[in-house]
Amino acid sequence: MNAKINTALLLILLFLNPILFAQSQQKTVDQRVDSVMRLMTPEEKIGQLNQYSDDWTATGPVTVDNDKTRQVRNGQVGSMLNCKGTDRTRWWQEAAMKSRLKIPLLFGQDVVHGYKTTFPIPLAESCSWDLDAMTLSARIAATEASAGGIHWTFAPMVDIARDPRWGRMMEGAGEDPYLGSMIAAARVKGFQGNKLGDINSMMACAKHFAAYGAVIGGRDYNSVDMSERLLLEVYLPPFKAAAEAGVATFMNSFNDINGVPATGNSYLQRDILKGQWGFKGFVVSDWGSVGEMVSHGSAKNDYEAAFSAITAGCDMDMESRCYKNYLAQLVADGKVSMALIDDAVRRILEKKFELGLFDDPFKYCDAEREQKELNNPEHPKIAREMADRSIVLLKNQNNLLPLSKNTKTIAFIGPLVKAVKQNKGFWDVEVPGVDSSYIVSQWAGLVNKVGATTKLLYAKGCEIEGSDKSGFDEAVRIAKQSDVVILSIGERRDMSGEARSRSNIDIPGVQEDLLKVLLATGKPVVVLINAGRPLVFNYTADNATAILYTWWLGSEAGNAIADVLFGDFNPSAKLSVTFPQSVGQIPIYYSHLNTGRPVTNGDVPNTSYIDLSIYPKFEFGFGLSFTTFKYSDLKLNKNKISNTGEIEVSLTVSNTGKYAGEEIVQLYLRDLAGSISRPVKDLKDFAKIALNAGESKIVRFTIDKEKLSFYNQKLQWVAEPGEFELMIGASSSDIRLNSVFELVN
Ligand code: GLC
Repeated sequence: MNAKINTALLLILLFLNPILFAQSQQKTVDQRVDSVMRLMTPEEKIGQLNQYSDDWTATGPVTVDNDKTRQVRNGQVGSMLNCKGTDRTRWWQEAAMKSRLKIPLLFGQDVVHGYKTTFPIPLAESCSWDLDAMTLSARIAATEASAGGIHWTFAPMVDIARDPRWGRMMEGAGEDPYLGSMIAAARVKGFQGNKLGDINSMMACAKHFAAYGAVIGGRDYNSVDMSERLLLEVYLPPFKAAAEAGVATFMNSFNDINGVPATGNSYLQRDILKGQWGFKGFVVSDWGSVGEMVSHGSAKNDYEAAFSAITAGCDMDMESRCYKNYLAQLVADGKVSMALIDDAVRRILEKKFELGLFDDPFKYCDAEREQKELNNPEHPKIAREMADRSIVLLKNQNNLLPLSKNTKTIAFIGPLVKAVKQNKGFWDVEVPGVDSSYIVSQWAGLVNKVGATTKLLYAKGCEIEGSDKSGFDEAVRIAKQSDVVILSIGERRDMSGEARSRSNIDIPGVQEDLLKVLLATGKPVVVLINAGRPLVFNYTADNATAILYTWWLGSEAGNAIADVLFGDFNPSAKLSVTFPQSVGQIPIYYSHLNTGRPVTNGDVPNTSYIDLSIYPKFEFGFGLSFTTFKYSDLKLNKNKISNTGEIEVSLTVSNTGKYAGEEIVQLYLRDLAGSISRPVKDLKDFAKIALNAGESKIVRFTIDKEKLSFYNQKLQWVAEPGEFELMIGASSSDIRLNSVFELVN
């Protein structure tokens, strides 16, 4: 009787005390991992570190290997990627259940901006500066993908990028470490939900660790050469933010950093990630990047590559087969200890337990749930709202926009007007059994909005690429019949993305020539620019009447563009990346150093080009609205702070126009004199506020020592006494209010 009372008391204690309960749960996971590992042979352990792609839609160079199923059945595979849908994942999981220990497979997929419901590409979403909206976007992606049998997304990509020649800029959150860190955390939260194991949560993956966005020449997979200080201060913060947000996994990157391939970089993976940051999840290589160390020349052969990667802290080998083929030999040769392998296996098994896969390997293979979530009518609505928030208004001469819904005739011209799948951008997911009929083209969006009352004329005008102008006459003809022309131009969606570096980032083909002949008709022209990166379009920028940067907006592209064109949504997005005037200015970014000869020095020889200014076409943080905002009444509650103090900053923002709208208020700081030169400004906070016409609100920020800190020459994270300039901007160069304060010892 006493034993029963004691057990009951213990259970009451455990459930009453969440910490005790959690520890008992954690002990359960640890104990369960121990219990499985005790049974595993070395070969089965190595199998957990091995990941293959399914053959359906490979995202890298596939090694044809018809033996995968046998290997899965023998427990020689820990994870599969690129297999989607409850049917296919169930089939692979059933194969895994035939293995001796029935260790379930992890299914990974690049669910980067949506699964079936496609959201705007991540770079577009980042221009919303709307963290809650981006969390929700990732949440919907996780809900649909987990319903499709996927446990793990290879997202968010958190690479800082300052070179638009690099096609993968489309996948990230732009050039700024502060904004990029906030967005990284928001997306991790969205993908992983409340906790791993919830049915609509999935593991996220911070990638590509690290500094992949700084490849020389903007050429994908190229080398990265940078100071440790720049790495720590600019390129690592979003990864640290993801780790602090609890991201379950990391993916290392293809590039070398100062000659050391990231996959074999123990400074990154062991010293920083697993050491200083205390990361408890696991690291997967990028596709084949373990074996690619032979090509890098940092490993003589796959045997050495496997040694380099496992000792450097790369836990799982995606598709190179180096671990499968050589880890056992490395252990037998005494070069790799079983303890290293056990650590990697433990990290992976812990996630499989947390996801609930040992309790039910088919937990995410529910065909009924799959149909329900992939056809959830709420998801497209959320995608449309995200798309609305991602569209950047770059120009609006004579307040042409918003257009009246009573416009009699509109000519909608250009090679992207009736495109359907183009709107998905790169890294979309082809879901089994789902065609593209649910994607709203730009033409369909216009028809939905005003097709019943406005005469809509269409001409393609030209192709995206090529020199054929034979379609110009028809385009001009219908333009002359219209009250306003909308021209939709840009890149093809596969001109940005992985292995899509461009040496020339102009708008391709004769599309700007088409704009010229349309402007010659004297009609106002609204230009929509579709791209996965900043393009160079000086003629369009200088001559179009209005410009919307529409990126690739996903499933609801057409409806969202129409929302903005006709004022049902007042554009609020602001650029998360600098738009150059010329590819010759790259790398170009707002938080640059002043140099000893800044261009503001007048006639003295200075750091400008002899043939161009150093200024961008559109700066970081820039974006227009249909209304206007006034900033006033900047107040600091003190102008001196100590190391432990804080400054309360407030200002008033007023909507001085006639439309309700949202404004992204940006706070920049400059350390006026440090032990090393500091940037002319650094984004340190922002606030997105909604204001009705005529309404004013007070915006508040807090400045503490953390916001003043940087890595000094000795790589110490310090805040140095001295004066700081505080700038409140509507963009990084449109500074509306400023002040100075001092940090004292
Ligand atoms: C690709 C990409 C990476 C992706 C992986 C799996 O090469 O670099 O971002 O997650 O392979 O598709």
